[in-house]
Amino acid sequence: MIAAAAHKVLVIDDELGPRESIRFLLKREYEVLCAESVDQGVAMMREANPDLIIMDIRMPRKSGIEGLREIREYDKHVSVVMLTGYGALETAQEALRLGATDYLSKPFDTNEMLRAVKRYVDRTRAERRRVGMLEDLREVNTRLVNDLANKDQQASMAQSTAEIAHDMRNPLMIVSGYVELLTNQLEDVREEVGDRLGSTDDYLEVIGQNVRRCCELAHMWQKYGKAKLNEFGPTAVADIIEDIVMGAAPLAASEDVDINYDLQPGDAVINGNKAQLLRAIHNVIANAIQAVTPPDGHVQVTCRKHEVTVDIVVADNGCGIMPEVLDHIFEPYYTTKEAGKGTGLGMAITHRIIEEHHGRVQIDTQPDEGTTVTIQLPLEGVAVSSAA
Ligand SMILES: Nc1ncnc2c1ncn2[C@@H]1O[C@H](COP(=O)(O)OP(=O)(O)OP(=O)(O)O)[C@@H](O)[C@H]1O
Ligand SMILES: [Mg+2]
Repeated sequence: MIAAAAHKVLVIDDELGPRESIRFLLKREYEVLCAESVDQGVAMMREANPDLIIMDIRMPRKSGIEGLREIREYDKHVSVVMLTGYGALETAQEALRLGATDYLSKPFDTNEMLRAVKRYVDRTRAERRRVGMLEDLREVNTRLVNDLANKDQQASMAQSTAEIAHDMRNPLMIVSGYVELLTNQLEDVREEVGDRLGSTDDYLEVIGQNVRRCCELAHMWQKYGKAKLNEFGPTAVADIIEDIVMGAAPLAASEDVDINYDLQPGDAVINGNKAQLLRAIHNVIANAIQAVTPPDGHVQVTCRKHEVTVDIVVADNGCGIMPEVLDHIFEPYYTTKEAGKGTGLGMAITHRIIEEHHGRVQIDTQPDEGTTVTIQLPLEGVAVSSAA
């Protein structure tokens, strides 16, 4: 009787005598497969994945040397012992050069054969274990390197964001100061110059508004940069509500879009990162603002705590999303906006951040009627699968 998971030995020899004597010798301890030609043997090897192949060198049609080449093309690790006739030392040595593990002369000594079979079966198995472990290690290594690269990238992005925001703030403050000076000077000369001023003060008002918006954005990005973007912790949703409004208000104002808030997160707490969540929500609100057309354009932002999730819903009555756009909406750099208006990164970033929070982003849309984007985040302490 052979053990259930017996090691396999494949014997390839055109002569019945040696084939059968090896089978007889090994059958108590091994599962022995026999082939009478190279082609048959190679086919059996592919199917059975043996631990050792014993192969005659001299065979009609295809020789053992050719067989060895085919075996090595398929499996570099299986041990192959060649059987050589008397005086075929040179051929045996060529076989070793081509990747045979060893050779035995015919007629073989049974003890020597048994010892060789044990040794080389063990060797194949050890080699396969080593290769398997190496592959596992490579996989773990690649994963670690990728993780590290992501973390480094995020950290350096946060750092450069903070630096850019910081550098922008100074010239912006200067522009803002001069806008104020100009406005004051205009006031002084208004009486003298009268109508000749035309819409100059309106223009200044728009410049002033937009510079203030840039300052607010720069301030927000400086805060993002300082926040540790990888750190997750208990975050009260009520604490981010104010920042959501602060981020959206200047954008809505500059686009002349009516935006309403109905934010009632109650005591909802999630396990998350505040700065990342704000980015995710802001991208969705920005899209909604950009999708509507004044004066009827309208955006509604709602937040509610439910049993296992807190939902942030951004609804607009804008252009809606065509199905072919919806299919790609989470892909980085996918945009329908004209060059310079959109990078196509907004929804990709939102999707990634919400996934990292074990939440989900759901989009309901009707072309020409509007879009509702729901960000659903699991409450802290809720098994994450129940929210997804
Ligand atoms: N509320 C929405 N209404 C209509 N279309 C939308 C809405 N939100 C997203 N889209 C569509 O999805 C596309 C991808 O959105 P995404 O936010 O990823 O990039 P973007 O807005 O084009 O550029 P960016 O966000 O970098 O400024 C948009 O170009 C737009 O066509
Ligand atoms: Mg966008």
